[in-house]
Amino acid sequence: MPVPARPQRWAIIRSTMGLYSRLVLPHVIDLVCGMENHARQRARLVPAAEGRVLEIGSGSGHNFGHYRTERIRHLWALDPAEAMHRLARPRAAGLGFPVEFLAAPAEAIPLERASADTVLVTYSLCSVAEPLAALAEVRRVLKPGGTLLFCEHGAAPDQSVRRWQQRLNPAWRRLGGGCHLDRDVPALLRAAGFSAREMQVGYLSGLRFASFNYLGSARPLP
Ligand SMILES: C[S@@+](CC[C@H](N)C(=O)[O-])C[C@H]1O[C@@H](n2cnc3c(N)ncnc32)[C@H](O)[C@@H]1O
Repeated sequence: MPVPARPQRWAIIRSTMGLYSRLVLPHVIDLVCGMENHARQRARLVPAAEGRVLEIGSGSGHNFGHYRTERIRHLWALDPAEAMHRLARPRAAGLGFPVEFLAAPAEAIPLERASADTVLVTYSLCSVAEPLAALAEVRRVLKPGGTLLFCEHGAAPDQSVRRWQQRLNPAWRRLGGGCHLDRDVPALLRAAGFSAREMQVGYLSGLRFASFNYLGSARPLP
């Protein structure tokens, strides 16, 4: 079989990656985000949400079942990927509070200033292209006294793990829908003007370079 010329090869690779991102990746994300070690973190964090809640990068809706129905007035499920909304819709059915899907990126949240009592972000800051712009938007839409709840994987404290995170980042980003392995979550929160009220850190089970976890809550500094 003749080997395609270089421009053709790139075209084939690009179209294969396009198909992968559209057809396969949403299901990979659903599967990985549905793992038990993530479910345990969700169960610790999500019940603290209350009032009008904005979820950033809501994905396939793995957090939905962890909200305490009686505490939630409204949930905005924001994710730019329509394919993720399609997977999430069945999980939003019959929750006992209204769920409104927003097809938008966190860098441009289509809500008024001071709309949300709680903003929840789980395993999505890693995928947001401009995390500081996204956190600035979170500040804008949070009510005064509102809370940001977060649970994210990110930069590991061990140099050997950190080096693997840096080595693997380029390939991981391509295969993982833009996911960065080494985002420094506390530094991002500080730079965006949030003060962490509590934060638990540590490795979850699984691949060490992808499992250093930051879980906690933060408030915007005045
Ligand atoms: C690894 S998934 C996590 C999904 C969900 N938060 C969870 O915990 O199961 C990352 C999600 O971030 C979304 N995402 C990517 N870029 C984004 C952006 N700029 N703004 C908001 N969400 C984004 C992706 O579409 C994907 O659904």
